[in-house]
Amino acid sequence: MGKLIVVCVIVAAFSAFIGERFVKLRERALADRLLVQNHLPNCRLIKGLVKCGSEDVTILPNGLAIISTGLKYPGMPSFSDAPGKLYLLDLENERLKPVALRIGQGFDTESFNPHGISVYTDEKDHSVYLFVVNHPEDKSQIEIFRYVEEENSVFHLKTIYDQLLHSVNDIVAVGPESFYATNDHYFGNAVLKQLEILLLQPWCTVVYYSPEEVMVVADTFYSANGINISPDNKFIYVSDILGHTVHVLKIEGNNYLSNVKSVNVGSLCDNVEVDRETGDLWLGCHPNGWKAVMYDPQDPPGSEVLQIQNIHSEKPTVTQVYADNGSVIEGSSVATPYKGKLLIGSVYHKALLCDLK
Ligand SMILES: *[C@@H]1O[C@H](CO)[C@@H](O)[C@H](O)[C@H]1NC(C)=O
Repeated sequence: MGKLIVVCVIVAAFSAFIGERFVKLRERALADRLLVQNHLPNCRLIKGLVKCGSEDVTILPNGLAIISTGLKYPGMPSFSDAPGKLYLLDLENERLKPVALRIGQGFDTESFNPHGISVYTDEKDHSVYLFVVNHPEDKSQIEIFRYVEEENSVFHLKTIYDQLLHSVNDIVAVGPESFYATNDHYFGNAVLKQLEILLLQPWCTVVYYSPEEVMVVADTFYSANGINISPDNKFIYVSDILGHTVHVLKIEGNNYLSNVKSVNVGSLCDNVEVDRETGDLWLGCHPNGWKAVMYDPQDPPGSEVLQIQNIHSEKPTVTQVYADNGSVIEGSSVATPYKGKLLIGSVYHKALLCDLK
């Protein structure tokens, strides 16, 4: 009898704990947030990028956008069975026709599952390197390619694995072989990854990698997601998606990052893009992260784009540039401006090009 009571008490306590955690998680995921439409003019869908997502985008100075598509990520919906692909979209060409980026021989394209991407241009010889977070069979690794514009192709140079790079979400390259990367989970193990979300602890890290050293250079993120660098290469920006914050971190001489400030954004912001001219940050955000994960086509997740101006000043301004309730685009994960236009990508839905007001 005594034993039964103990078991009952434990089960009741555990259920209460799970229930309480669920409520906390729903709150953190902004499950009940109402979104008011805030559309931009002349939005056009990018044909050919429907239902495969366009999770991350980076735009080269000549207007070529590189887009990562087909992400399959545990716990998130995915509507494409095909392997992931990288696309090129020439924003200088009115036709807006994406073409698959050719990957040279010797790379396994069947298991390719690209996530965050970043480009590094070597100032000395103008070589362009494309860094891609890849999750073949749910693993976490970084691929470095060389991009050859004349051939519309990339050639694989190397794959990087490290136990510190166990749950990489996004990456920013800082040299031909070095980068900063975010981990969106604390645990590397698939089951523990699902459980840790209930604990909602700030245990995630940012890692610096070079062939000489790999180290954790910043921590205490609930889930470190998008990462990018300031135009002067002095600061790193990290979006803590579950913290509803964007962190400004200073690159120190030893490659460690020191905390400068964090800016509240009030949304679950995913990738961070930086306007190389103005220094403004552009964030593709999930206004309702709960809906983005649970996914009900009758009640789709919305999209939100935020812009942060003067982030290094006393009073950064956070402006909502675009919001949609999911009737146009679901689950926006990235937004990047180019010559008066805004390219918006999503985790598993469409890509949209709008005019900025
Ligand atoms: C989104 O808002 C539009 C009005 O702008 C409305 O017609 C539509 O039903 C809404 N969709 C959802 C999924 O709430």
